[in-house]
Amino acid sequence: MAANILDWTDSWFEKIDSEAKSDSAGSLAARFCGEVSDGKLPFCSMPYMAELLHELDGLEGYVKQFDHMLLLGIGGSALGARALQKAFFPQQDQPCHEGPWLWIGDNVCSKTLDSYLEKLPLEKTLVVVISKSGGTIETISQYLIVREKMKEVLGDSWNKNTFFITDKKNGFLREQADELSIRTLEVPDNLGGRYSILSAVGLLPAMFLGIDYRLLVEGASAVLSPLASADLNADSLSNHPSFKLACWGAALMDSGYNELIFFSYVPQWACFGQWFAQLWAESLGKEGKGSQPIPATGATDQHSVNQMFLDGPRNKACLFLTCPSLPIGCPFPNEIPNKFSYLKGKTFGELIHAEGLGTKMALSANSVPLVEMKMTDDSEETAGRLMGLLMAATIFTGWLMDINPIDQPAVEMGKLLAKARLGASGLDSEKKSLDDFLATNREEQGF
Ligand code: PA5
Repeated sequence: MAANILDWTDSWFEKIDSEAKSDSAGSLAARFCGEVSDGKLPFCSMPYMAELLHELDGLEGYVKQFDHMLLLGIGGSALGARALQKAFFPQQDQPCHEGPWLWIGDNVCSKTLDSYLEKLPLEKTLVVVISKSGGTIETISQYLIVREKMKEVLGDSWNKNTFFITDKKNGFLREQADELSIRTLEVPDNLGGRYSILSAVGLLPAMFLGIDYRLLVEGASAVLSPLASADLNADSLSNHPSFKLACWGAALMDSGYNELIFFSYVPQWACFGQWFAQLWAESLGKEGKGSQPIPATGATDQHSVNQMFLDGPRNKACLFLTCPSLPIGCPFPNEIPNKFSYLKGKTFGELIHAEGLGTKMALSANSVPLVEMKMTDDSEETAGRLMGLLMAATIFTGWLMDINPIDQPAVEMGKLLAKARLGASGLDSEKKSLDDFLATNREEQGF
């Protein structure tokens, strides 16, 4: 297969001195090898994959007997599935779709949950609860409510329509699974949510929708296996595109580019922008460092946030996603008003490429360092390559920044305060903070 291309022409790679970052290729290669062999980077080495593919084979008949899948999860436990759904199962958003249907409950929205409870035919619905920790309140609270309804509608057999994807030993969901005989798949050890799209977390929903999940895995492996090799060294790492992206990403931050646009000119892949945003932000926003990811969709956002990209603060760089082989689409009719006569003989599909080119050139002309990620096609295999590339690039960027790209400690505070607010025990200092905060006179204004 022809290779996907990273086009560095407009990246300012030299200008921002990205090359200096590659001095650490030797030490990072040694570190990467060590962490792979210690099982700390399973997104890359995928030691769990053979068994998972076997399990998915065995589950296919069971999963596909359902018309609906209701996925309850949040963050890394939901964004991958949504990106895959939008990219490879766009039917659900198109007219006259007759199933299957994947619903993703990744928020705390009573109206949405009510609609699931009122309208989903639970006897034909598989409820899939995904939580690595097994204790995430947004997910578990939905599960507890849905479980009640399932018991009411399905009686004692409610557990047959329930499936968990969670840690193999720990957490509330694991306890529930053991106690209530609920089927499960594991989130492997050391596989954080935002790196888990190519585990059961993303692949079970993909299988339900008929997405070729094996191709996703093959694509990612093609990019990641050279990194997972015990032979990784300074040379091979320096030549790996994920490392070059990381050198660029880290050098940009040093040069004051603290926003990174992910501009998708593959419209149905726009949700990879949301997926990437979480990957980049939760991995790299640490210790006052990082760059804010901004997902954008071509051509839609040309008429929205693009003005800011082009003429706002000069603090933005861009990953620009294109696919020259998208379908050519309908031809324009022969009867065309004079002012649009340039469309004669063209097809609708040509428009997105012209607009992409125009936007890319305009961004460059306005001093936005830009790397074009030119996809050879919009297949699952190609998407797997893209995901593998971006996950590895994120890890290397974090290491070049000297932060830990695997954890996300800052998000704990808000979670604990919310729990304290709801009366959870043992959160005395959070309760004290809440009391102080709520006792403060608010400066409020009506409108
Ligand atoms: O990337 C991450 O680790 C997080 O975004 C988690 O996916 C998210 O917090 C949900 O966690 P869990 O899967 O434990 O419910």
